[in-house]
This record gives sequence, C-alpha cells and structure tokens, in this order.
Amino acid sequence: MNDRATVRARADAEAIGFVVNGQAVHVRAPPVKRLAAALRDDLGLFGTKIGCNAGDCGACTALLDGTQVCACMVPLGQVAGRRVTTVEGLAADGTLSDLQAAFLRHGAAQCGICTPGMLMAASDLLARNPQPSFGEIMDGLGGVLCRCTGYQKIVEAVQGLTAPARDDAIGIGRAVGARLAKVDGRAMLTGAERFGADAIPIDALWLKVIRSPYPSARFELLDPGPLLARHPGLRVLTAADVPRNGFGIYPHIKDQPVLADGIVRHRGEAVIGLLGEREAIDGIRDGEVPIEWRPLEPVLGLDAAMARRAPLVQREKPGNLLIDGGLRRGDADAAFEDCAAVAEGCFVTSFVEHAYIEPEAGWARRIGDRVEIHVSTQTPYMDRDEAASVLGVAPERVRIVPTACGGGFGGKLDLSVQPLLAIAAMLVDRPVALVYDRPESMASSTKRHAARIEARMGCDAKGRLVAFAETADFDTGAYASWGPTVAGRVPIHAMGPYRVPHVRARGRAFFTNAPPAGAFRGFGVPQAAIVHETLMDDLALQLGIDRLEFRLDNALRTGDVTATGQVLEASVGLAQCLEAVRPRWRQMLDEAVNFNLNSRSLRQGVGIGCMWYGIGNTALSNPSTIRIGLARDGRLFLYSGAVDIGQGSSTILVQIAADALGVAPDRFELVVGDTDRTADAGKTSASRQTFVSGRAAQLAAEDLRGKILRRVNAGADARIRREGAMVEVSEAGQTRRLDLCALEADEDGTVLMGEGWFDPPTTAMDENGQGVPYATYAFAAQIAEVQVDLDLGTTRVKEIIAAHDVGRAINPTQVEGQIQGGIAQGLGLALMEEYLPGRTENLHDYLIPTVGDMPQIEVILIEDPEPLGPFGAKGVGEPGLIPTAPAILSAIRHATGVRVTHVPALPHRLRAAILALETSRG
Ligand code: FES
Ligand code: FES
Repeated sequence: MNDRATVRARADAEAIGFVVNGQAVHVRAPPVKRLAAALRDDLGLFGTKIGCNAGDCGACTALLDGTQVCACMVPLGQVAGRRVTTVEGLAADGTLSDLQAAFLRHGAAQCGICTPGMLMAASDLLARNPQPSFGEIMDGLGGVLCRCTGYQKIVEAVQGLTAPARDDAIGIGRAVGARLAKVDGRAMLTGAERFGADAIPIDALWLKVIRSPYPSARFELLDPGPLLARHPGLRVLTAADVPRNGFGIYPHIKDQPVLADGIVRHRGEAVIGLLGEREAIDGIRDGEVPIEWRPLEPVLGLDAAMARRAPLVQREKPGNLLIDGGLRRGDADAAFEDCAAVAEGCFVTSFVEHAYIEPEAGWARRIGDRVEIHVSTQTPYMDRDEAASVLGVAPERVRIVPTACGGGFGGKLDLSVQPLLAIAAMLVDRPVALVYDRPESMASSTKRHAARIEARMGCDAKGRLVAFAETADFDTGAYASWGPTVAGRVPIHAMGPYRVPHVRARGRAFFTNAPPAGAFRGFGVPQAAIVHETLMDDLALQLGIDRLEFRLDNALRTGDVTATGQVLEASVGLAQCLEAVRPRWRQMLDEAVNFNLNSRSLRQGVGIGCMWYGIGNTALSNPSTIRIGLARDGRLFLYSGAVDIGQGSSTILVQIAADALGVAPDRFELVVGDTDRTADAGKTSASRQTFVSGRAAQLAAEDLRGKILRRVNAGADARIRREGAMVEVSEAGQTRRLDLCALEADEDGTVLMGEGWFDPPTTAMDENGQGVPYATYAFAAQIAEVQVDLDLGTTRVKEIIAAHDVGRAINPTQVEGQIQGGIAQGLGLALMEEYLPGRTENLHDYLIPTVGDMPQIEVILIEDPEPLGPFGAKGVGEPGLIPTAPAILSAIRHATGVRVTHVPALPHRLRAAILALETSRG
C-alpha cells in the first residue's frame, strides 16, 4: 500500500474504516465514492483496474468479505467494517499463490490489464469450490472480460491449479522453442505492473476533454468567464493553444486536429481541453462549457460519401476520396469468359471497436525545454515525432516512456492523449494527467474500417482458380489515420492464399463523418478474407468439390508467383495447415450429418477459412534496431524499442537473444520503449516484432558475442559464462577470462554493446501493383464447428481447430495465446461486434466475447522455417484472427444454407436470412 496515501487516508477520525488485505485502513472520502477509486486514489492499490467504471468489464473485481464484486460499483459506505481483498493480497511474502503461479505457468496473462480481476474472480470461485467443473468456471469468470487471450489459457490455469509446477529454468541454447514464462508476467499477477493510469504523480494537474456531440457541426466557444469564475485556476485550451494543429500517420497527411478549430467532423471529436486541479476537473459537467453548436448535415456511410453532390467531409478532398489504389496482373476480365464456374457477391462489414480493456491514459511533465510523456502506446517513436510536430519542436525535445499497455490491437497506433498532454505540460510547472473514460475512449478512438466489397472469382472445370476481380470500398471516417494502409494492403491479399493467374483488385477509402477508422489487427485483411473464403465455398459447391480439398488444390506453394508478381521462395505452409486439419474436418462433417439427423431447429455445421498475411509494412522500409549491453558489473541489458502490448515480444526477444548470445534467458534485464534509452524498433503492428525486431535481436546478440570472443581470441563455438564482473569463455578445455572492470565504460556503465539492425527486403510497387510488398507471409487454415438455432438465429461456436504456419514457434505458449486471442476477436467480428456511433459507446451495449462465448480451441503449429526470420520465425499477432470469421460463416452456411453477406451475423439478421431462404424454397 502507498504509505503517503495511507497516512492521508487515516488522517480523519470520521473516515470510513475497513480491512484491506488483512490491514485495517480508514479512508477519508464521501460514502458514495466507489471502492475501486478509493483503493487506487486513497490507498495506492493500483492492482485494481478500471476498464469501464460501469460494472461491465470486471477489471475492478475485488473480494468483499470473500465474494467477488465490481469494485467500481460498490459505494465506500457499504464497505465500512468489512474485509476487502485485492490482487495485492494474493501473494504472501513475495511468493506467488498457487493460482498466480498457475496463471504464469499457463500463459494466462497477455497484456495483464484483466489479470487482477480474473485472479480475484477465480479466487472467489475456488474458495467456494476447489474443483470446479468447466461450466462452473465459465460462471465464475463470466463477469470479467479479457480482450487478449480468448480465455482458454485462463480456464486451463484455473483447471490446472493442482498440476505439478514445471521447471522454468531454461538452459543455455534451449530458450528458442521453450515455453518460457513471460518476463513481465510476475508484475502482472501481483498488481505491480503500472499501466497508463497507474503511476500518475500525486501533484499532477488533470485534463478533461470536451467533445463534440454531433457528427458534423460548426461551433464557437462563448465567454468562458462564468466557468472560470466557478472554478478558479482552471485553464481552457483551444485550437489556438496548439502550435501546429494537425497530426496523422503519413508524413504528407496531417489532417486530424488536436483540438477542433471551429468545425467538427465526427461525434467524439476533441474540441476544448480543460486543465486544473483534479477535484475541479472531476466536478465539471460537459454542458457547463459554453459552446454554441450549429449542426450540419453529416455524411454517414459509403453511399452518402460517394453520392454525386455529397458534402465534403474535408474541403480539399474531392469526392470524399482518401485513396484509390490496387493491382492488376494478367487479364481478369477476359479470363472470366473462359471460366467453368464463377462466383460473385457484395459483402458488407461494420465498424469494429478495439475494446482494449485499458482506456487511453498517460501523463506528462516538462523538464527544462523538453517534455516527457508516459503513455500506453504501441509506437513510442511515432508518438515522439508526432508530439514534437504538434509542438513545433525537434523530436529530440520529446521523450516517450511507455507504460504497460493494457491492449492495443492497432488502436494505440494512433495518437490519443499524447498531443494534449504535451501541449498542457509545456504550459505549466506541474505534471499533467489525462485518462479517458470508457465512452470517451469508444467515441474518439479509431475503428476497424466498415467495408463494402464486391468481388468475382472464377475457376476452370477442374477447379483450378483462373480469375479474381474485386473493388473494396472502406469507410475511413473523418480523418485519414491508417486508411491508406488498409486500402493498400487489401488488394494484395484480396484473392486469398491461392494461385490465381489473372487478378484485378482495387481498394478505395472514403471520408465520412464517422470516427476515424484506423489500424485494427489485420489492416482490412479480415474483411477481405470473409469475401474470398465465401467465394471459395461458392466455387467448391458449384463444382461438387470438398471445400478443404478445393483450397488445398489451389493453395500457394513454394515457387508460386503471387498476384503482385512475387515469387514465394520459402516458408509457404498453407498446404501443411490444410493437411493438419483434414482428419478433424472429416470427423466433424460426419458428426454434423449425424447430429442433424436427429435435430430440426438446432442445426450443426462445419466451415473452413484460410488466410495469408504479409509480415511488416507494405512495400515500405520498416527497420528495427536492437542493442544488447554488457555492463561493467556484469549485468546484461536488452535495450528494445519494441513495446510489448501483451503479445509477448519482450519475452520472445529475450529468448532469441539468449540463444544467439549463448547465455540463459534469465540473465537479461530489459529496457523497453523509452525513446531516450532505446533505438527505434518500429511500431508494434503488422505482426512484425518477432520477425523484424527478433532478427535484429539475434544480430545484436551475435554482434556482442563476437566482441566478447574477439577480446579473448576465442573461436565461434566457445562457451560463454558470466560470473559477476568476469566473463569466462571456454573452448577445447581451456578457459579464458575477461575482466569487465578493466574495460572502459560509457556513461551508463556499459563496457560492450552489441547492435543489430534488420529491415525486411521489400520493393516499391509499380503502377500495376507489381513488386515485393513483404519479405515473408504467414499462412493458416481454421475449421469451425457451430450450432445454429433456426428459430432464434443464434449461433454457438462449439470448436475451432486452428493450424498456423508460424515459421518457428519461439515460445509455443505465447504463439498459442496469440492464436486463441485472435480467434476470440474473429468470433466477435463474425457474430456480435458492431460499432454504432452514439449507440454502442460502452461495454454494455457493445458486446465482445465473454468466456462463455468461446469454443474449445485446438491449435496446431506448423513450422515451415523462414530463412530471413530469427531461428526461422515469422509473426502471428494478426493471422490468428483472420481465418476465424470466414470459418464460422462457412459453418453457418453449412448448417443453414444461409450465405452471410452482412457481418456481424447478428441473430436478427441471421433469422431474417433463414426465413427468406425458407420462403424462397417454398
Ligand atoms: S471497471 Fe468495474 S466493471 Fe469495469
Ligand atoms: S490479458 Fe486479458 S485483457 Fe489483456
């Protein structure tokens, strides 16, 4: 517990008294204050997280007299005289409890933001029922949302509590391929991990952002005098306070204002910043700020954006068009003429919310003429450059210090709190904090692009694909964000992981008055995969070929040429994936036939989805630099600019570096993401960190190893061992010693530094979209078994088998976790997630999968090594999600006959489609 907070909390004899983690406390606060806020603000127990403050997410789960409660919903007055247990109370004397140890062993924490809540819910369950059934675990954990893991490893941890602990001591040369526990796992499990809102200085001023209630409007700030009179010391920040009021992902597109300047283009857009003492800021209602609004006709949806006389969302963007690009190979139009079978369709997908459990949060302070921003982010170097650009200063005057990141999935690749924090911190002599609440996060953050995709696919009489044509239109919202990336990546992946000689694919993005659409796990490829996989099913059905075998016949293989003209030289594992799921495919098909013989309203179906995914940026340089330093005292530091957003990159880089250097992985200490102390490793996006930064880490370790060996004239195979400030190098029965104290140290105490740099070899694309957009691709095949209630239109996914070619699984536990988590998000995309501005801006109305929604998942890892990758590895962050929705939709069709073309397949939509099909069949 925070001593300073405890003293303050005890200062008032009238305070509310209760027991926390066995210790009596008294908190001076109003009885209506919520327990979660009191634990954090008054007692410094930041292990209790706040994801929604509304009883929807369970991140705040604590025990009250031994029973789980949402601490954000419990008034402090109800806690008087009672016992509260938080995650900080689970480990005794620094030793993890059995439950915490099981979470660590099973890889049940990824980003870790839900982990305290999960642990507390599980503690409650296990105290009541030490050996819960699967269903009882579902019920016991059902109140806590996890956006990362897909829940399976959490359930396995609760089930596997009594399993014998595995020896986690990994020997030299054995780190790659080992199920090493996360290097940051222990902090997550004890509540010690600090996320964006957890380490805000107590003397910070707070910011509040006033946002637009309209999708399109002009506005004017009226006299703020009365507001300032009511809240002495308050500062009102407007667009006039922003030196360069535009930011964006691309160097030539800085179209998003930090604070809107007289016009707003989406609901939730930032208009005014209020800076003041926290109590004052918390007490200000949005309506108190005198703004005169003049609503305008909004442009909502693709049809409105593309209409002939559509208002322009951005005046200088004619036709509301952000980008129009694509590729062309062969002559698709002519080739369709000769096809024996052609499938076509128009598919619509919705905006999807990232729903990371940690809302955007951070704090900043001015130090001299520099500003230091502590923030939850996926991209510290881009944050640094953009914050500097907004301030109108050199990048070196901004330092980004990433906090732990409670989920990102692409959503924290855009700026959120950073620019306003930077501006405010430069104005005052105190730290400044900004923490979004859940509705604010959901209203203002980027979304997965809503899409409308029209496509055709044709094959010859033998079932060999011949031609593909597509126009994919994306609703990119009010500002560009990552729209060009999505519209550029989709045409390359549009035809799926198949050999197609004739391709014409076009990707366009249009501005509307929706929140900006940006990066979200897959950059548009998940939407495109729904299309190509539905068309693959169409063709297989037309020709009477098994859906899996049809894909296998057309699967890309080593030596094939893609639609961009790239020759795939290695690591093309789709065929192995399909062969790996084939036995279960046949079994599931038989089971569906048998099930449906005896069931009328409940129908079982089996579906399949495949994907490929280019690792890293599209046709762009995206290098990473990693450094490994040996300090004079013998400590070994891995300096990594690659932020770990829960996917486990820090652990993966340690495993790679350990084997490349020839030491045990527990030797490393990490410095992650701090732009003053690490080199740029690029963004944590595009499934690139294992492949790109992993390779850089391998090269850095080899560089350091070479330097050590050269110092003692040892050969490449010598064995390195560190003993305090002495490095022992053994070779052919001889041991030589390197005294680190005798070497010259830099200002950080480093005596030897290894550095690795890797930029995947790609080329620019020509005017026909021909070139080498990615150095390597991941491949996967998933099969899904579902049951559909024909009367209700509901779908239950029973099981998913997921085979993924990952090149090499550096850490199989983490790879499985990424795939399971991706499947959960793919299930949400297919069946339940639809973001509607103004209507689904909380986790009550916007549904994401709970533990009870998840199927049993079997992961099959295919390791077709990528020669460029570290120890053969590629990436898996996004691939886990991409084939899931297609597989589920394919299974729904197998069960019902309904070909879903509007996603998500919400029950009312599916029920209507079932009725329409029944009507058409008479
Ligand atoms: S923070 Fe309490 S339920 Fe979400
Ligand atoms: S680990 Fe559960 S939300 Fe990230």
